[in-house]
Amino acid sequence: MRPNRVNSTCMSHQPNVFSPPGTPLLDRTVGELVAERPGRSRVFHSYNIDFCCQGGRTLREACARKGLTSDLVVEQLEAELADPSPPARNPANLPPAELAAYIVETHHGFLRRELPRLHAMSERVAQVHGGHTPALVEMFHVFIGMEAELTGHMLKEEQILFPAVVALTLGGPAPGSLEGPIACMIHEHEEVGAALDRLRELSHGFKPSPDACNTYRALFAGLSDLEQDVHRHVHLENAVLLPAARKLAEKSR
Ligand SMILES: [Fe+2]
Ligand SMILES: [Fe+2]
Repeated sequence: MRPNRVNSTCMSHQPNVFSPPGTPLLDRTVGELVAERPGRSRVFHSYNIDFCCQGGRTLREACARKGLTSDLVVEQLEAELADPSPPARNPANLPPAELAAYIVETHHGFLRRELPRLHAMSERVAQVHGGHTPALVEMFHVFIGMEAELTGHMLKEEQILFPAVVALTLGGPAPGSLEGPIACMIHEHEEVGAALDRLRELSHGFKPSPDACNTYRALFAGLSDLEQDVHRHVHLENAVLLPAARKLAEKSR
């Protein structure tokens, strides 16, 4: 069974994404499971299950692709559910316009602070250590491609797509079809995801060699943090905001 991924009451404070009650965890999408409880992302990270660009897969499909015993993953997701600590504020529950503002402030803000810092460190590490570790030079080239992609991508969201979502939530018409911009954003998310995968591969999981200098270590730690933040960011857009924008556009027709 494929879940209904967007709540028809997405302008309320109800979660934007849900499955019919009683749907087994294995038949829900991994994107939806994280949207419902962000703490589940820790379990998916530990198994390297992609919940953002590939968040439309059911948990059953995702486990099968990784060759994982699904019972073990379900057990850990259920243990997370039993965690007695109060859940952190879940941005997936915000109405679409507030979610767009949250993404700009939190995730675009993070990228605008981190990208220049990581650019400078990656360039320096490639210059100093690239002679004996050519992967560091390739990492710099992958990084600058990803940086350019992300910079243009954020502007398109902030200047075109997100204002259109806000206009729709206010009851106005969409300024033209949103299908093209949404498809473009999803494609660019996949490209950024591929660049992050390549950086992870070239850096052996962002693990510096034992004799690495401080800049080298700081770069790898910064890239690992960036990867996690981009995963949360893309997840909120792919699994929550973009489906909600589609639904709003359909209703305005
Ligand atoms: Fe974004
Ligand atoms: Fe995006």
